[in-house]
Amino acid sequence: MYDFEKHIDRSNTSSIKWSKEAIKGICGNEEALPFWVADMDLPTSKAIHNAMMKSAIFGVAGYSDHPLLQSSFISFAKRRHDWKIDSESVTYVQGMLHGIALAMQTFTEKNDGVLIMYPTYAPFEMMAKNNERKVIEYDLGYKDGLFYLDRERYKEESKDAKLIMLCSPHNPSGLVFSTEELAFILSLAKERDQLVFSDEIHADLTHTGIEHTPLGKVNEKIGAKVITFMAPSKTFNIAGEHFAEAIFSDKNMLATFKREQDKLYVNAPGFFIGEMAESAYSDSDEENRELCEHLRKNASFIRNYLETELPEIKLVNANASFIAFLDCSSIVEKVREDKKSNPELYDKENNLLAHFFGSRAGICMNDGTWFGAKYSSFVRFNYGTSQEMVKLALDKMKMAVRALY
Ligand SMILES: Cc1ncc(COP(=O)(O)O)c(C=O)c1O
Repeated sequence: MYDFEKHIDRSNTSSIKWSKEAIKGICGNEEALPFWVADMDLPTSKAIHNAMMKSAIFGVAGYSDHPLLQSSFISFAKRRHDWKIDSESVTYVQGMLHGIALAMQTFTEKNDGVLIMYPTYAPFEMMAKNNERKVIEYDLGYKDGLFYLDRERYKEESKDAKLIMLCSPHNPSGLVFSTEELAFILSLAKERDQLVFSDEIHADLTHTGIEHTPLGKVNEKIGAKVITFMAPSKTFNIAGEHFAEAIFSDKNMLATFKREQDKLYVNAPGFFIGEMAESAYSDSDEENRELCEHLRKNASFIRNYLETELPEIKLVNANASFIAFLDCSSIVEKVREDKKSNPELYDKENNLLAHFFGSRAGICMNDGTWFGAKYSSFVRFNYGTSQEMVKLALDKMKMAVRALY
């Protein structure tokens, strides 16, 4: 059983989230409490912890061999998502972003259009730009405080893309796409010969009662060219170890991809992450279920708190994972006035809200503009922690907002 309320002090543990310098860079105040980068202040599962301990005590981390790793992932995907993955269609990749970047380099060319859904996890945009692909911006629909796939606009705006980059469930909104929405994207992709990559790093953390459907599973009836990326990193809070799985709909594409991996000598996970991933996938289901319920409760707590105590701020979808996009549009004008009177508390150009909450509330969150220039009235709040800490953060934010009026 997890103890979600036990406080874990991660300061001085080589955690970027708790690094004062990093916190200062994000919100201007190194003393602010960290609710930003996407890892949790919660323990990993017992089985994973035991695997880490066993390896550490043994004390030798030579070249590894984990023959059961792939099959344990495949069994987990069947249990968690009712997806029967063919073992011939999977390969290990050295972290989600590495895998996606290598696939982008392998299957698209310079100036090819890459459709990115905004607000977006910033590295998708950077990756496309760094690889000289053309970013095609598609803003998700936003209505009544919820992000959604606006199908008509998507149909029009995705026409010229060679690659569709999906983040499912969606970071930062916590939107979980329906099977029909995924089938819609796939059918168009098939018709237009577009590739679809689906980053499903948050898939195992849909809140209790909410179902995630892997893109590769929906595609079995459609037959588009799809790579689904999954990982134990967010699920079990082992993201610093960078490990992911890529599941290909097309065996020839997998063979091509593996040749690229061979050229780079990327073909086996490190010793520790191999041990950890295997125990994550074979023996941590109960913790995963408990965590999904804890996160559901935290999201519901935030929603209720904001509705009753701080109605100026609104929580968007938040149906998966531990990140919440908070709509702060109703306070932006007031914050601008605060900046005019107290410019020393703010960044000269950008990150208005991150600096407001950093300096005025002592809470460090990612500014909405990190997810796209248009999202300056949002912040992303990481609630992968105890409810006590979530409440503390909200109390501090409430006091800061009250002081504006
Ligand atoms: C959607 C998404 N993809 C990828 C990553 C990073 O994955 P990795 O560290 O395995 O490259 C993150 C981390 O926050 C994420 O939220």
